[in-house]
Amino acid sequence: MSALRCINCQSDFLTSQRIYTCAKCDGLLDVVYELNEFQGERMMSVWDWRRASPEAIDQSGVWRFRELLPEAGESEIVTMIEGNTQIWNAPRSAEYAGMNRLSFKHLGMNPTGSFKDLGMTTGITQAKRLGATSVACASTGNTSASMAAYAARAGMKAFVFIPSGQIALGKLSQALDYGATVLQIDGDFDDAMRLVREVANDSPLYLLNSVNPFRLEGQKTIAFELMQQRGWRAPDRVVVPGGNLGNSSAIAKGFHELMERGVITKMPKITIIQAEGANPLYRMWQKIGDGATGRRGDGATEEVEFEAVATAFTLATAIKIGNPVSWPKAMRGLRWSEGEVECVSEQEIADAKAMIGRDGIGCEPASAVTLAGIKKMVAAGGIKPDENVVAILTGHVLKDPDYTVSYHAGTLSYTNKSGEQTMIESRYANAFVCVAAERDAIMKALGF
Ligand code: F0G
Repeated sequence: MSALRCINCQSDFLTSQRIYTCAKCDGLLDVVYELNEFQGERMMSVWDWRRASPEAIDQSGVWRFRELLPEAGESEIVTMIEGNTQIWNAPRSAEYAGMNRLSFKHLGMNPTGSFKDLGMTTGITQAKRLGATSVACASTGNTSASMAAYAARAGMKAFVFIPSGQIALGKLSQALDYGATVLQIDGDFDDAMRLVREVANDSPLYLLNSVNPFRLEGQKTIAFELMQQRGWRAPDRVVVPGGNLGNSSAIAKGFHELMERGVITKMPKITIIQAEGANPLYRMWQKIGDGATGRRGDGATEEVEFEAVATAFTLATAIKIGNPVSWPKAMRGLRWSEGEVECVSEQEIADAKAMIGRDGIGCEPASAVTLAGIKKMVAAGGIKPDENVVAILTGHVLKDPDYTVSYHAGTLSYTNKSGEQTMIESRYANAFVCVAAERDAIMKALGF
């Protein structure tokens, strides 16, 4: 049996209640489970066995782990057989960062090209259980693409609130194609988020942002699947981009549950990387103190107030967020795992993305903060080159082709805080070659 529990005042609610935050103190809610005998070896062997099953709910890299998910009947589950995303080693990226080895788990290989599908299968399933016929979210693009697809599968209406002109075209095209109603809000993501929460409170729309705890339950299976793929051996560290801070929170919860159930004895350090211009968690982390070693005293966090970044900026539009909803859960994950927070510049993100491309893997800009952050932390001594690190790539390289082509063409730029146009140096550019439609010219261009 599962229940909803406030992470703040610990009040419990039924999972059949249509609430997004605590009805008493407005704190964030967790889905919690009885600590029963489904643990350790037994849990691992049941979950391992399901990988060989032909059933959709066993093949899904989310529902395979259903003993630790909110109850849902098989006919209620809306799945696109999400998950099952590859872990690849990345030797060029490892060398670039100064690591002996490095691997990427690429969540961009999900049905709609981002990790959001893992949370959307559980979110839409809950919407169906509650009898909702229309769903809504604010989004920097990926959530809207994923929600639109899953809503279409479930026969529900989807309404997405996106910041006008600030999402990558690949993502917008998906939401349109999957039939969602797209509202371009004349504001940024934080405005869209505030507005969709207000509208969801006063309308039949079911809210599917990651403030909804059912979303995070699906995303926590990233930790389960990662462990399963590694033969249940934990890495030292898991590095994840931070935007609205739902995903890092969810992954931390997944590892914490594995610890409670005797699969691991120590959590991998959850390491959250933000973009410099959208780094409210990093700023808070610095205020807590002793950022250099990442060690901090218990309870210190309660004394520091969270401050939003008023006008967040990064070309990695997926994480252009100044007021992340899930920051208290992210802080909890950092405490549980002795984790760390870092932030990286636009230049560092762009170069790291090009390097992930050189490994033949590729990702969207927001995902590349992971490699940029690892490189920065290795240089500062915070990560040891022989650590066993898995970085989470969150979105597919085809989500934002404009960014990639601009980088390689040497035209990627942004307007800095003082209003000046700033060019990104294309240090690892692979510019295309313009050539006349003649055999000789082509041979010459090929160097023959
Ligand atoms: N990477 C990508 C590709 C994303 O789309 C997002 C978030 C993140 C990282 C950050 O994850 O918010 O859980 O900390 N995208 C959301 C969206 C906000 O609307 O698609 P987070």
